[in-house]
Amino acid sequence: MRENDLLRLPLPSDNPLEPPAEWEQLRRQCPVSTVELPSGDKATYLTRYDHVKALLADPRFVRPTAEDEGAARIAPEGAGGPAADGSSTLTLPDRGEPHLRWRRRVGKYFTAKRMTALRPGMVRTAEDLVDDMVRNGQPADLKAGLGFPLPVYVICDILGVPATDRDRFSHWSDAFLNVSRYTGEQVRAAYDEFAEYMSAHIDATRGEPGEDLISMVIRESEAEGQGQGLTDDELLGTAMGLLVAGHETTANMIGKMVAMLLADRTRWERLLADPTLVRTAVDEALRFDANLGFGIRRYLTEDVEVDGELLPRGTTVVCSMPAANRDERVFTDADDMVLSRSPNPHLTFGAGPHSCLGQSLARTELHVTLDVLLRKLPTLRLAVSIDELQRVEGLLVGGLSTVPVRW
Ligand code: HEM
Repeated sequence: MRENDLLRLPLPSDNPLEPPAEWEQLRRQCPVSTVELPSGDKATYLTRYDHVKALLADPRFVRPTAEDEGAARIAPEGAGGPAADGSSTLTLPDRGEPHLRWRRRVGKYFTAKRMTALRPGMVRTAEDLVDDMVRNGQPADLKAGLGFPLPVYVICDILGVPATDRDRFSHWSDAFLNVSRYTGEQVRAAYDEFAEYMSAHIDATRGEPGEDLISMVIRESEAEGQGQGLTDDELLGTAMGLLVAGHETTANMIGKMVAMLLADRTRWERLLADPTLVRTAVDEALRFDANLGFGIRRYLTEDVEVDGELLPRGTTVVCSMPAANRDERVFTDADDMVLSRSPNPHLTFGAGPHSCLGQSLARTELHVTLDVLLRKLPTLRLAVSIDELQRVEGLLVGGLSTVPVRW
């Protein structure tokens, strides 16, 4: 790669578990480079840990929307769905004080105490899903059997949605995020159905509140008085935001984490021998994942200097967290998966004002997945070679299309 070659995202790699060769060179020689996105638009690409972290942490820089002049789009017009271009009709406050207020209110739900309380239910759900997978015989797709359903069932519980409606949520989530399976009309229909369902659910919850997130926000909004809390539209947007942000990401991470641990089975055996490593192993899987999607976009609302280079206002920057997570300046043996790594300040959940609100939940789901699999299927192994694993054809969230396993 020469410094002035224009790179196109997503960068190819030898297999979906390996990082693209360019990252190491970019970090060393060209940490502020220009790339072309699948839309054909150009963006500035950051690959070093300190640059990525500083840019994400800077509250002046915002998530690009269709209204930001000259902002680089991820996908060509219409492809990638409303989540890709920020044109969802169920949008939430995304900038400034309104976003901060929203974040404070909803963030209150994700306490360590609440995660501890949710855990036994998650364990039961994961055990039932593993039992079903075993009953259906091997080889099985771990992503379809466990990775995809577990996070959506958890989100349904958090929203207070009855178990009987979980499959509808799975379908809606898929329609919102799958970039190729549905027509524009089908995606719009899914939005309408979701909005209708959630509006009725919010009304019902107001009449009979429980311990879920919607009930918590309604209760607090009422305590604060008229006009202070979240509106019904914002509650609807919150439900949609949690589904979109928390389902596909966690589903893919469950598949990738298990695939990474089985790709070199000595890793799995280490966990079997010492299950207390599960906690650090989860964060190391989050750091080590080379297939996170191509990064987070930020739109520069002011000029900024990065690595001595002036990036003018109006630039779209793509922050590559997976490249930053392999930065040898921060992580010793960055290209090794070190299951006991601690501390592990990876950027997989972002940083700064938009950093992942559901990270405690995501970690709990990943811990539960490993605990249950190590206990119930200690003989688990990949049913295909690493080269046969396929990257998912998504634009927003990186993943494996299937994770075939035997036990
Ligand atoms: C392994 C799974 C997950 C990963 C890798 C992940 C990653 C991320 C990242 C990188 C961001 C920052 C986006 C940005 O800066 O523009 C983010 C934001 C967010 N995530 Fe997650 N996430 C995961 C799971 C979840 C879960 C389970 C939930 C909740 C159910 C969730 C809810 C959110 C929300 C609401 C935001 C937006 C926060 C804001 O804008 O203030 N995420 N996530």
